[in-house]
Formats: sequence, C-alpha cells, structure tokens
Amino acid sequence: MSYMDGFYQSVEQVGVVPVVVLDRSEDAVPLGKALAEGGLPAAEVTFRTAAAADSIRAIANECPDVLVGSGTVLNEEQARCAVDAGARFVVSPGYDLGVVRWCLSHQVPVIPAGVTPTEVTALVNEGVEVTKFFPAAQYGGLSTIRALASVFVGHRFMPTGGVNAENLKDYLADPAIIACGGTWMCKPAMIRAGEFDRICELSREAAAIVRG
Ligand code: 3PG
Repeated sequence: MSYMDGFYQSVEQVGVVPVVVLDRSEDAVPLGKALAEGGLPAAEVTFRTAAAADSIRAIANECPDVLVGSGTVLNEEQARCAVDAGARFVVSPGYDLGVVRWCLSHQVPVIPAGVTPTEVTALVNEGVEVTKFFPAAQYGGLSTIRALASVFVGHRFMPTGGVNAENLKDYLADPAIIACGGTWMCKPAMIRAGEFDRICELSREAAAIVRG
C-alpha cells in the first residue's frame, strides 16, 4: 500500500478531521487528548496562528495516537515548517501547486482544496485523489459534491465549512465523501476557555455519528 493509500484509510476511519485553531501551544496536548478520548484521534492544526508549529510538535510528541497534521497551509515554507514539526499531513483551503508538488515529492500526504471542475481537474492531473471541498456550505454542499463526483469518477472529497452534528450523517452517507472536516467540536472559544470536557463530549457525539 502506498503512503497516500495508508493515509486515506486513516482519514476514512476517523471520519471527521477536527480543524483546530490554537492561540497557545500549551493548549495543544489537552486538546489532542480530549479529541482522542472522544473518539476523533486527529487534528488539523491550522497555520492561522503563530502557535501552529509548536502545537503540532507538542501533539506529535505527546499524543502518539493522534493523527496530527497541518491546515491552512498556503505556501511551501509553511508546509516544510509543519512537516519539520511533525505534521503527518498537509491540508490547504485552496491549492498552490508548489505546495502540492513539494508534498508529493517528499511523500507527505496532502489534501488541497478545489470547488470547481477546473480546480479539481488541475489537482487530479497532479495525482491527487482526494480534495477538500471548502467552504462546503457556501459552494453548494452535498449537491455540488455529487455533481462533481459524477464526473471525477473515483475521486473523493473532504467537505469542510458548515459541517456540523446535524448534517454530518448525510455527508458521510455519500460514497464520494472520504471524511468531513470542521471546527464545531473544538471551536477556538472553547479551547481558549479550557473547555476540554465539552470538546471531548462533542467529539464523542461526532464519533458516534461516524460509527453510525
Ligand atoms: C476550515 O478551516 O476548514 C474551516 O474553518 C472549518 O469550517 P467550520 O468552522 O464551518 O467547521
């Protein structure tokens, strides 16, 4: 099995990839533990804050059961920084071919995003088999994903943006969807307030929907 296949399998198994915004790297380990205890052992730590790399390093070192990766990766420098810190995957809200090619040439699993047929075509032609679909709600959600999936046969999507406990089941029921991403179980305000029990509880609720 290739490194990408192994990664895709792990993503499908977890079902929901929590999108994490951390202001303080001290919160990273309690967060990683809360997500894992709730049944979502994954974290897409976004490069929207200066704490991203240190947070990834902390989770990678102290939560070995958590599939930790990086999100909001916009350029190659951030991709390198994330991987140096221990990120096991790279996710972007759109795509930059430099990032995609750097990841693929370093055997780093990458999920770039595309919402139009042209964008998905460009990514498929780079050898990418799964793309993020962001922001999912604003770009037509499940109905747009179904239309794209009917053309890009075998290609799969990770919708993020507006996914929540109410619509998760519908998204996951579609075979073109490998997993969903989202912040609803670990909103930045909950992390800032140290509400890790609540995060664990919301993760458990999401994990129960995944296991269906
Ligand atoms: C992302 O980075 O993928 C989004 O911020 C997640 O969207 P959500 O906050 O609606 O879950």
